[in-house]
Amino acid sequence: MNAAPTGSIRPGFAELEPVVARYRDIRGSLITILQKTQEIYGWISEDAIDFIASGTGIPPARIYGVATFYTQFRLKPAGKYMLMLCKGTACHVNSSDEIRAVISSYLGIADGETSPDGLFTLNTVSCLGCCSLAPVMMIQNPDGEETFGSLTRERVQSILGDIIEKERGGAAQ
Ligand code: FES
Repeated sequence: MNAAPTGSIRPGFAELEPVVARYRDIRGSLITILQKTQEIYGWISEDAIDFIASGTGIPPARIYGVATFYTQFRLKPAGKYMLMLCKGTACHVNSSDEIRAVISSYLGIADGETSPDGLFTLNTVSCLGCCSLAPVMMIQNPDGEETFGSLTRERVQSILGDIIEKERGGAAQ
């Protein structure tokens, strides 16, 4: 095993340290480390990349290259509400593309983007496991997650409008 990398480790990565320690000697585990980093922090910052680099010996440029290659990785902070719109087969045939377009137009963000106010991030994901309710969207926020099925244009606008109203104290669009 390599010597424990301690000298150049930045503060603020206490949760990531055991992940790096566990995987740093396992070949091909960079994607796992990045996945866990995103699970912990919600995104992968430059500082996190530097931390992983110092802990694994992998050059930061290579880590950055892997992180940008895979669309699953977020290199900017996620919004408070993570909209995970299913694009699985059942949802696709039930017009999930139209729902995505409604969300994009309503919030002014494309798939993978975060609204300027930091409230929403839109992500299309594979099957959420409740195909009978297609089209389906799960919304995660710090308080938990909720799944919404049988979405229509009106319903998705109402769901988003309710969140905006709640967050802005009645100043919904
Ligand atoms: S395909 Fe969307 S929930 Fe299964």
